Amino acid sequence: MRTKVAIIGAGPAGLLLGQLLQRQGIDNVILERRSGDYVLGRIRAGVLEQGTVDLLREAGVDQRMSEEGMPHDGFELAFDNRRVRVDLAGLTGGRSVMVYGQTEVTRDLMEAREAAGATTIYEADNVALHDLDTEQPWVSFESEGETRRLECDYVAGCDGYHGVSRRSIPEDRLEIFERVYPFGWLGMLSDTPPVSDELIYSSHTRGFALCSMRSRTRSRYYLQVPAGERVEDWSDERFWEELRARLPEDIARTLVTGPAIEKSIAPLRSVVVEPMQYGRLFLAGDAAHIVPPTGAKGLNLAASDVHTLYHLLVRIYREGRADLISRYSDICLRRVWKAERFSWWMTTNLHRFSDKQDFERRLQQAELDYCTGSRAGLVTIAENYVGLPFEALE
Ligand code: APR
Ligand code: PHB
Repeated sequence: MRTKVAIIGAGPAGLLLGQLLQRQGIDNVILERRSGDYVLGRIRAGVLEQGTVDLLREAGVDQRMSEEGMPHDGFELAFDNRRVRVDLAGLTGGRSVMVYGQTEVTRDLMEAREAAGATTIYEADNVALHDLDTEQPWVSFESEGETRRLECDYVAGCDGYHGVSRRSIPEDRLEIFERVYPFGWLGMLSDTPPVSDELIYSSHTRGFALCSMRSRTRSRYYLQVPAGERVEDWSDERFWEELRARLPEDIARTLVTGPAIEKSIAPLRSVVVEPMQYGRLFLAGDAAHIVPPTGAKGLNLAASDVHTLYHLLVRIYREGRADLISRYSDICLRRVWKAERFSWWMTTNLHRFSDKQDFERRLQQAELDYCTGSRAGLVTIAENYVGLPFEALE
């Protein structure tokens, strides 16, 4: 089998790249280790930056998002039993975000890909990348008991943090930057009306809590929990009680509770891999970087990498501009590190780190008080939250 671009992974990064390329007539094949249903079963984040929304529109997958997605012009930061609104639109000249679940984005992209007749091979085992530092890279994999070979011009490594793409780069060519936080997020989904029209990020002495949503009737809530916590130890009652305790009193009083549809714990970490390319392999999305979810940047960073890679591949195939290849990693990394910075800032200032850090706790309070009491501080938060601009290739 032969294609122009072999895409490893059918998460949002791989599917979005595939769809954009498909619309430009650039042939591509996606190899995914799991089944389509498994991929759609994962509950992930839900905030799309304007740039991500625009890119989905360019990919022709905006119809359901426009109907069902919820535009948000602001969000709230809660601390010291008070709430401060970050007026995203007012502080950024009218930019906003869209609350629309990553699961829905993935579903829309899968349907568009199927309608376009592009090839996706699900349950592809033992994917291995070969001859990446030559002009004829190829991918081997197993499907339905047979070993197969996919020849290509380029490989897009969109296979997430545990994928094979990053591991195919010789270790001495990569530098990995990492920070692991001593806590995770316990997430819960429930068919109850959201406690507020906007997201609330709450810093509390008991720990951080986030109130988010998927629709007017479906809420998504998170609690900071210590690393190593087990989801089985969190009954619905315990979750609701703890959430209520971490919210400002006026909000806690209006919280509507109900049975959980899903509960899971995700660890918090920051990782960046440099460079994001090796020969004819380009890494995009979680394969190259992880952010803690506090800034809602994971999916959006995947989209900005895809934006750069898509434009690069179009220039290569349309104009023969293979000389632009060497720019990919630097362009992506400049934006990646700024999103890492923002996610780190949100994480560091909103979570509780330990009992003893009185000095750090006071600094957190001062930081939140200062940034929310100053227009400059609020603009900084707002412009990062709605998403920094994409950088052009040249
Ligand atoms: N071979 C083929 N596919 C693989 C392999 C492999 N060896 N390893 C992993 N995959 C697949 C996974 O099963 C998954 O479907 O690659 C896909 C990667 O998808 P994601 O983990 O969703 O990563 P990405 O597409 O970069 O999405 C960005 O943003 O909100 C965040 O972390 C969240 O998933 C989200 C990410
Ligand atoms: C979510 O809705 O899942 C969500 C929202 C905002 C975040 C993280 C997760 O920062």
